[in-house]
Amino acid sequence: MNALVEHRAFDHVPLDGTIGLEDLASKIGWEPAVLIRFVNVVLIQGIFEEPEPKVYKHSASSTVFREDAMRAYYQLGSWSVPSWWKVSDYLKTHAPEDVYDPLKSPFSYSRGAEGQTYYQLLEADLAFSDVWHKGMAQAAPFNPVLGMFPFRDMKEAVEAEPDRAFVVDVGGGRGNALVDVMRECGGGFGAPMVLQDLEEVLQGEDPVQIDGVQVMPHDFYNEQPVKISLPDAHIYYMRKVMHNYYDDKCRTILRPIVEAMGPTSRLLFGDMILPETAQPGDDALPFYMDLRMLMIGGTERSETQWKQLLESVGLVIVKIWRLPGAPHQATIETRLRGK
Ligand SMILES: C[S@@+](CC[C@H](N)C(=O)[O-])C[C@H]1O[C@@H](n2cnc3c(N)ncnc32)[C@H](O)[C@@H]1O
Repeated sequence: MNALVEHRAFDHVPLDGTIGLEDLASKIGWEPAVLIRFVNVVLIQGIFEEPEPKVYKHSASSTVFREDAMRAYYQLGSWSVPSWWKVSDYLKTHAPEDVYDPLKSPFSYSRGAEGQTYYQLLEADLAFSDVWHKGMAQAAPFNPVLGMFPFRDMKEAVEAEPDRAFVVDVGGGRGNALVDVMRECGGGFGAPMVLQDLEEVLQGEDPVQIDGVQVMPHDFYNEQPVKISLPDAHIYYMRKVMHNYYDDKCRTILRPIVEAMGPTSRLLFGDMILPETAQPGDDALPFYMDLRMLMIGGTERSETQWKQLLESVGLVIVKIWRLPGAPHQATIETRLRGK
């Protein structure tokens, strides 16, 4: 699959119509005798169709690998594959506690790049980092923003104090979460909507521009700017950020946000909640995602682990909003302790 994706075989098969083996092979610069072996192993999985011998067309499952569809999401996953091959060697060659050091993650080891974190390696690869962030935005429907915390119920409070940002999305990538919230609320209720991420992500190869969103480069290890240039926000939001780190690092990232929060501010986490135990027949996704995080130096958390982490930085859980039908997907609503 990776060879076919990287060599753009999926883009050369027409969306309406067919292409012969020889023709496709010449477009991607391969021997037909090589291409057919790759195509056969995907055909048996329903990827492409072969209406007549050695003539191919797209199937529903093959179109997603086109550049204009889900390819970036596929590439995002495949970028981590070497760490899955090498994790067993990693465990043979490392001290047990090394896994907690993001400079020594299985991912960094598999790339021969110990001493650099997953995100440092990602941002150093400019072309790939653009694909990665696009893939993350495409993945949004699998980890929804809406259908849990009722953003639209904030209307009255936000309209009463519109100088306070409605939502500050910290580590918000390309802003897909804010777009979802604005779709649900018909905009930002007249208050600023702020997107924060690293400068190279927001203003790199393909700068982020979203109507109604203030793009604010910010390294989340530094003091939170929405408190300095603007009053404390109604909502600070972090989606799929905490699972990239173990607790010590999370505390370092959370402290500046906690310091910026006011008595009515909420800090929301859009993340998975691991079941406390694994039972036969359970949904595999949270457990695989947890292993995926292990590769890059992070972890998913059970409700107990979330409580411990949040309490340790002075936050209390107001409510865990779970997604109906997929209760491991959740938005955790928190506020300052004692407010
Ligand atoms: C797993 S992605 C989640 C992106 C987005 N929240 C979403 O749900 O699609 C983690 C994000 O954290 C950002 N990030 C990593 N280190 C950061 C830092 N030091 N300061 C700000 N953002 C950072 C990455 O660039 C990336 O966009």
